[in-house]
Amino acid sequence: MSSDELKKRAAEAALAYVEDLEVVGIGTGSTVGYFIAALSRIKHRLDGVVSSSEATTQQLKACKIPVLDLNAVGPLALYVDGADEVTRHLQMIKGGGGALTREKIIAAASEQFVCIADQSKLVDVLGAFPLPVEVIPMARSHVGRELLKRGGQPVLRENFMTDNGNLILDVYNLPILEPAKLEAELNNIAGIVTVGLFALRPANVLLLGTADGVQTLHP
Ligand code: A5P
Repeated sequence: MSSDELKKRAAEAALAYVEDLEVVGIGTGSTVGYFIAALSRIKHRLDGVVSSSEATTQQLKACKIPVLDLNAVGPLALYVDGADEVTRHLQMIKGGGGALTREKIIAAASEQFVCIADQSKLVDVLGAFPLPVEVIPMARSHVGRELLKRGGQPVLRENFMTDNGNLILDVYNLPILEPAKLEAELNNIAGIVTVGLFALRPANVLLLGTADGVQTLHP
């Protein structure tokens, strides 16, 4: 079974978490693309959605699903998003698509974060996937040096600007022994907007698409 089929399985299973007349937060990526396709079948039951990226907004608009401003809708009951890596504690690396900052904001503003992923995303230890870090452009070199000091190898994502007008450094070989501690530490480096570690606010549920069906994991 292909990873796309497994992503689709996980995405379809997330529909069960959507309640009538609620506003749902929507992440970014190919797994989320399958969720948007599934959601469009029940869009008449929704008040609307909050989008985490321009790419997701375009997909939602193509499906005629109303996109609302987070400021206009207050706390959300549900956020659905994918991950680049996820552990059994439901801590994640995200930001492969570069949308980490808005993803983290919506996750923070949501009661429940349902992560949807194919089985290849489940890892014992985070960090084989390079850690995306969104950086204010003028701080690029300073942040790069700080990341080097911590044992990582930052690589500027080429020809890429985030939806917020910033840069992404993809950090290779960073030891992620204590994800929540490292997230807090990196958040404190001047010039970092967001680090793609989602450990202080992990997911509440992981729907993992496997060849045997969808596994539901809780931390
Ligand atoms: C987007 O910025 C990321 O956080 C995505 O959630 C992540 O890259 C997952 O993408 P796929 O669903 O395409 O694997």
